Amino acid sequence: MWFFSKKTIPIPLAVEIVVEVHNHVLPGVDDGAATMQEALQMMFFWAEMGYQKVVATPHQNTYMNPTTEQIETSYQKLTSQIQEQEIPIFLTTAAEYLIEPELKDRIPHLRTFGPKRYVLVELDFWHLPVWWERILFDLQAAEYTPVLAHPERYEYADRELLRKWYERGLPLQINLLSLANAYGKKAVHAAEYLLEKGWVSFVGSDMHRPAQIPAVREALQHKLLRKRLSSFLNPTLL
Ligand SMILES: [Fe+2]
Repeated sequence: MWFFSKKTIPIPLAVEIVVEVHNHVLPGVDDGAATMQEALQMMFFWAEMGYQKVVATPHQNTYMNPTTEQIETSYQKLTSQIQEQEIPIFLTTAAEYLIEPELKDRIPHLRTFGPKRYVLVELDFWHLPVWWERILFDLQAAEYTPVLAHPERYEYADRELLRKWYERGLPLQINLLSLANAYGKKAVHAAEYLLEKGWVSFVGSDMHRPAQIPAVREALQHKLLRKRLSSFLNPTLL
């Protein structure tokens, strides 16, 4: 008599997240992937984890300001490499905008993602500008849906402010790298607090280079994250 043992096929870790929404994978446009090789390493990793789509979000602010042409050229080159290497992932581009007065001048030409014209925005890490609400209001008035990048990383973001952002209806995006302690304990605790509260709309890596792959892989196993997988909006972007 023959006995067949069922081989256990591991389920890729990000199969329930499916869409990666915050990263700097486009080669040579900001402080992210420096070369095509680095970008491809990151793409292979996401494919291995079970992602089906990656939204690249290069920085757009007065200090790092790649032109539309630079972003498009980098995107086209990476897309053709993805096809050549047969990586089963669809790549699109949006951006990560700094909330600064100059952001208003970019309206209505912001790079968005998803059905609700989501715009990924970040704040200064050390000081909350007094006019942050005004700029969010301007974005909403222009029918964008601002998504706040890594609320857990801001030095001044205490629990009261995290609650304020959530109650104001601002979708919050936490970084996987925060859960892996890449930015210190304060960010770990704030990210865990947001997960516990159920206030996280999107999960992203914010990966800049392949050296961060082990940390992102580790974060994908975080217990609290696994518990909350069904509450993230990432799959709505497929
Ligand atoms: Fe970022």
